[in-house]
Amino acid sequence: MNPCKAANPCAAKNPCAAAGNPCNPCNPCAAGKKKMKQVGRDEAKALYEKLAATLPAQYRGGEHWATARDWTKWTNFATAPYLADSHGNRYVVNLANKIAARVYGQYDKLKAMPPGGTILKPSFTVGADGKARPGPLFIMEKMTKGWNPATGDWRYAMILPGGKTFGVTKGPNSAGMAFCQECHAGAKDNDMLFFLDEEVRRK
Ligand code: HEC
Repeated sequence: MNPCKAANPCAAKNPCAAAGNPCNPCNPCAAGKKKMKQVGRDEAKALYEKLAATLPAQYRGGEHWATARDWTKWTNFATAPYLADSHGNRYVVNLANKIAARVYGQYDKLKAMPPGGTILKPSFTVGADGKARPGPLFIMEKMTKGWNPATGDWRYAMILPGGKTFGVTKGPNSAGMAFCQECHAGAKDNDMLFFLDEEVRRK
């Protein structure tokens, strides 16, 4: 049985607000017990640039085709990594493949992501030693119409550092991924996409 089911982070309205979720590292909302450091934008940027070289290798073998690609070459829509409390209070950036990159920059005006559009959100934390440590890789891939009406035809995936697959919609631990959609459904007007804060948006 999936241990994360017992402490379903989706039970709370904002799963990230539920403190002390014992399900770490299954729950992307829990970044870990170790004290994390907050850094300025420039430092976060420098840390990510350094980390990026080795990052794709961290997720190789994960059960999503994107883990076999060098996605660091995809279009990064974040001008700098930002803290995402919705994804475990980790630093994240949003990378779009060619199909997604054509429309993602429409932001709040975006109505529909075409099939094949894929957005990757690698994450990292900064330890007390100032070093960046990779966190889960969050993926949203738009599938063909009718693939899964329950998720608006999005396939969500979460791959842990080391290449272990936490879950994939309609794949391994699909039920454990339902909370992704439960939160993302709040962005129905923009095809389930939330984008990122104005101040870190690539124009
Ligand atoms: C509590 C709400 C919440 C949950 C749960 C959640 N997300 Fe998100 N997600 C957001 C928000 C808000 C953003 C945009 C801001 C940010 O990056 O934090 C986002 C952005 C994203 C993006 C970039 C595309 C976009 O929406 O602009 C991806 C990819 C993503 N999430 C994947 C996932 C996956 C995979 C899961 C489940 C493992 C998940 N998310 C769970 C709220 C959530």
